[in-house]
Amino acid sequence: MVEVSTADLVEMAAGAAAVDINVSFRFDIWMLLLACAVSILAGDTVIEFAQSRILKMKDTRMAEPQIRFDDGAGYERMMGKWSRIAGEVFLDWVKPPSGLRWIDVGCGNGAFTELLAERCRPSQIQGVDPSEAQLAFARSRHSAGIAHFRQGDAMALPFPDNSFDAAVMALVIFFVPEPPAGVAEMARVVRPGGLVTSYAWDIEGGGFPHEPLLAEMRAMGLPPLRPPSFAASRMENLRTLWSGAGLDRIETREIAVQRTFEDFDDYWSAALLGASIKATVATMTADQLGELKEKVRTQLGADHGKPVTLDARANAIMGGVPD
Ligand SMILES: C[S@@+](CC[C@H](N)C(=O)[O-])C[C@H]1O[C@@H](n2cnc3c(N)ncnc32)[C@H](O)[C@@H]1O
Repeated sequence: MVEVSTADLVEMAAGAAAVDINVSFRFDIWMLLLACAVSILAGDTVIEFAQSRILKMKDTRMAEPQIRFDDGAGYERMMGKWSRIAGEVFLDWVKPPSGLRWIDVGCGNGAFTELLAERCRPSQIQGVDPSEAQLAFARSRHSAGIAHFRQGDAMALPFPDNSFDAAVMALVIFFVPEPPAGVAEMARVVRPGGLVTSYAWDIEGGGFPHEPLLAEMRAMGLPPLRPPSFAASRMENLRTLWSGAGLDRIETREIAVQRTFEDFDDYWSAALLGASIKATVATMTADQLGELKEKVRTQLGADHGKPVTLDARANAIMGGVPD
């Protein structure tokens, strides 16, 4: 009979409880744990089946890279700065009045939350994110005392109806497994007349800041990980999501931004901290990584010691909850 220890079961239960693993995989694990419990009554056949499935899934999980947000400081260096650069343009466009009660859905390490606090004089901000590592960084950097951070999911916001004047998802919509549920939740917790907004890299349209790197990965036969709902940030899909949630006064715009790194090594060391990039890099050999680095250097036309500038493009949307 295949050996599975109690520790294996505990590990799988912990995996099932983790928020950042694939939803259907988590469901599978819970079903198997249930099967194990039933097997105590049913006998060895069910136990053997359940144990062999658990081992198979464990192997698969160890082999499959995952996008994980488990490093708030690393996130800041790689994506937090990008979020802020795009967030400045976004707020110039939205022009929210001061004194609003905001919810920042998928607040992550607080990169956009801080911008909001600095620029828009909100009366309060509630930041919600599934990642405890990101939230810990957000709490540690926040000094103004108007933002509060709690664990939660965009598809089940832990607040009653009409709790806020405005909601935002900054670089998040493509991580939400069911984007319509996420947008409906923002519309639910914002009062009539309030604002529901978002900006997100146009991943499918090539707007992700690391598209040059991802293109080289693909050319090497190493398909990079994509967020579960990567197509949600196409402009037409954002419009469909916002109108589908019953929002009105919908407006959209493109946000084109640039970020300059000191030199190629500065860029490269930041890029390797990216949640999606590091997951694929973890599966590569040292030779493959060296080859990738040189290909990206060539593609960016990076001269030794000279600054490197990257372009990125996000789609932004805002709409109102009907009065
Ligand atoms: C690219 S980061 C954006 C963080 C922050 N808003 C910013 O502008 O830097 C995406 C965030 O979405 C969070 N996230 C992933 N799935 C989520 C979900 N279902 N609901 C809410 N947030 C989610 C991740 O934990 C991560 O912190």
